[in-house]
Amino acid sequence: MMLDLHCHILPHVDDGAADLGEALDMVRLLGQVGFTGAAASPHHGGGPGGDVAEVEAKQARDQLCAALKAEGSSFDVLPNAEHYLGVELMQRMAAGELITIGGKSKWLLLELPWGAVVDVEAVLFRVQTRGYRVLLAHPERSMSLDLEVIERMVTRGVRMQAEIGSFVGVYGDEERQRARSMLQCGLVHVLATDLHSVGTAEKWLTQAFSWLGDGAAELGAGVNPKAIVADASADDIEPIVRG
Ligand SMILES: [Fe+2]
Repeated sequence: MMLDLHCHILPHVDDGAADLGEALDMVRLLGQVGFTGAAASPHHGGGPGGDVAEVEAKQARDQLCAALKAEGSSFDVLPNAEHYLGVELMQRMAAGELITIGGKSKWLLLELPWGAVVDVEAVLFRVQTRGYRVLLAHPERSMSLDLEVIERMVTRGVRMQAEIGSFVGVYGDEERQRARSMLQCGLVHVLATDLHSVGTAEKWLTQAFSWLGDGAAELGAGVNPKAIVADASADDIEPIVRG
């Protein structure tokens, strides 16, 4: 029972599924590798991936859920957003306009800008002091983040979502090395696809799950994601280990 907390499967809202047909293909693919649901996470905020309002995301989610139901699929699609850590995030947080993971938790999926960020730790601390819990999207791909900084953030309650594809080099050799080092240091808590299209994903998802092992997949893509949706505290979200 795996739940994908980071994927772009909603049709025609961001740089993910172009239309309903592609969205359904992506859901079938997720089902083939063992996912029974997803908290679909369209880009939200002023980042390069798009800025999808929740009203628009809900329409796309309803459309996808209706099509899945018509197909007889029991695949679950929950609310979520990939929030871009920029000025808009702080403004929308103040206005109470953020979308939490699963829709009922205090957890936010946050993406860092790809360049260097001025004092990430201070910004994340501000988010936490507003009462939110933070799941950081793909820190292994943020080259400006040292492992010591990631480790310090983890001690302060931030939890880390690694891309499943990173472990087998989908994003490059350096990213693969960083993902594997993070895993070894106990700094990976959630495994997600960040799926934007079907492409070759079945191959690399299968390879990555085989490298990670059943235990890592069960905790990182099953137990921890479900606990986050149920609003577990950061202390209850254990790091995954290979095997
Ligand atoms: Fe993403």
